[in-house]
Amino acid sequence: MKKIIYGEILSNDEISTNIFDMKVKAEDISKEAKAGQFAQLFTGKGELILPRPISICEAENGILRFVYMKVGKGTDVFSKMKKGESIKILAPCGNGFYMTDAKEHIIVGGGIGIPPMLELTKRLKGKKTVILGSRSKGILAEEFKKYADEVYIASDDGSEGFKGNVVDLMREKNITGDMIYACGPKIMLKFVSMYADEKNTECQVSMEERMACGIGACVGCVVKIKDSKGEESYKKVCKDGPVFYSSEVVWE
Ligand SMILES: Cc1cc2nc3c(=O)[nH]c(=O)nc-3n(C[C@H](O)[C@H](O)[C@H](O)COP(=O)(O)OP(=O)(O)OC[C@H]3O[C@@H](n4cnc5c(N)ncnc54)[C@H](O)[C@@H]3O)c2cc1C
Ligand code: FES
Repeated sequence: MKKIIYGEILSNDEISTNIFDMKVKAEDISKEAKAGQFAQLFTGKGELILPRPISICEAENGILRFVYMKVGKGTDVFSKMKKGESIKILAPCGNGFYMTDAKEHIIVGGGIGIPPMLELTKRLKGKKTVILGSRSKGILAEEFKKYADEVYIASDDGSEGFKGNVVDLMREKNITGDMIYACGPKIMLKFVSMYADEKNTECQVSMEERMACGIGACVGCVVKIKDSKGEESYKKVCKDGPVFYSSEVVWE
């Protein structure tokens, strides 16, 4: 069940330009959190009243880890928070990835969609192939190597690993498995979903729509979904997601 806590910040370090790694003491939430769920982090500033959704990168030993990019006012406030301060958190939010009986997993993270895939990679059992894509030099690859059988890296500018996007890399290496999990920019998710269709492989995607209330009240975060009969409706990313089967999503 979701809880509001004021967690003590244990560390908050810049690990790459404008990318921060925050660890927060959160005993109960850390036990309960599933891979792919997210937290709503509050800035504590009156003018920035809405919380910011940030994925849970790791949840273990009573600690939640968040890896976030400083892009605007809210994440700027987080980036200035110091060890020993407390941060208001509502978590765990959303549904997380579905654990199935798949044995060969393909885990795809793009840009700031990489962090939640770390906890997922740790928890999945079976053969794990990880594909990480970034514009330039990426993040967390060394940590993925501890839990995955293979880690492939793609960068748009060729500064690290394969030059191109994650789907180009998957085609080049003919990556196959029985379940794909992906988080990243919507356009990447769309192309990963097309790759999954080509390979006749099930695929789960974590959607990162902009959110307002974050608790299912404002319909600010909807995505178009179709059911097995092809009937379309809208679902809320904050409450019904962020993870959906890619076959359900109407890609526009
Ligand atoms: C379920 C979920 C999980 C997320 N997990 C992470 C994560 O692990 N790490 C991380 O760095 N970010 C994550 N995000 C994105 C993060 O929530 C936004 O970057 C953050 O809210 C921006 O707040 P801000 O006040 O700093 O920026 P704002 O001032 O609100 O916006 C600054 C810029 O960021 C863009 N932006 C804001 N929100 C989003 C969004 N949701 N998606 C894309 N662009 C956005 C705005 O369009 C604008 O250009 C996640 C988003 C969702 C919905
Ligand atoms: S953000 Fe309000 S319903 Fe999802």
